[in-house]
Amino acid sequence: EMKPEVNVSADETELVAQLRRYLNEKLTYLLEQNGIVSIGVSGGSMPKVFTKAFLETTEELKNLNWKRIRIFMVDERNVEKDDDDSNLGAYLKLFPQELHEIFIPFTCYRDARHTAHGYEMNLRKYLFPEQNGTFARFDVVFLGVGPDGHTASLFPGKERLDKVTELHWVAAINDSPKPPASRITLTMQCLQNAKNVAFIITGIQKAEIVRGIWNRELRYPAAQARPYNEKLTLFLDEEAAKGIPER
Ligand code: 6PG
Repeated sequence: EMKPEVNVSADETELVAQLRRYLNEKLTYLLEQNGIVSIGVSGGSMPKVFTKAFLETTEELKNLNWKRIRIFMVDERNVEKDDDDSNLGAYLKLFPQELHEIFIPFTCYRDARHTAHGYEMNLRKYLFPEQNGTFARFDVVFLGVGPDGHTASLFPGKERLDKVTELHWVAAINDSPKPPASRITLTMQCLQNAKNVAFIITGIQKAEIVRGIWNRELRYPAAQARPYNEKLTLFLDEEAAKGIPER
């Protein structure tokens, strides 16, 4: 059984550098293999470090074909993109205007089920235009975790695994313990079906969840979000890395 690949950083600058190397390697490879490269990103503390790493990477990769890279939200709060709670909004504020078009459009409806449906339709349209019936297979998915073990907006004891069908990649959440309560999220099956999953986890309060991921303690959704092909990568700071037993 393959252990996750672990990167430990001393500070944010080193974390960004590690992310940049990872993105450079993945983008170079994936752009050769695929028509469209799909990158999922999370909210919370991620927009800041991801954006730095991504913009540095794309500056490095000069001949980048922008039209073939798409970024989407792994989970999103059910708010308009100019709302302070919006994950997409957090990214748009950090990205230069001319790159805003690489983000998959998001529309917020009163009923989160409509929002989820709309976002799934957009994921299909922009990422898999020629593959109507197929299940999502995203290229790289970046996840955060909460101290309770949630990832994306999949919370312990509430994972949306049950109702998933081939046609449901995105689920509505109306009772998120982390505010705001109304959200949408990729389903666990979508996370598991991704080609690459990378967690970015910092802080001592998350060391226990890192241990849970390492030991596959499945009561934590974060520990379930492992791609079938085993390509799991962890980006940790020294504190979060204390959760890894062998270190
Ligand atoms: C959200 C996020 C969520 C986040 C974790 C970790 O919408 O709230 O996508 O899943 O990644 O809660 O958040 P922090 O990195 O801020 O601790």
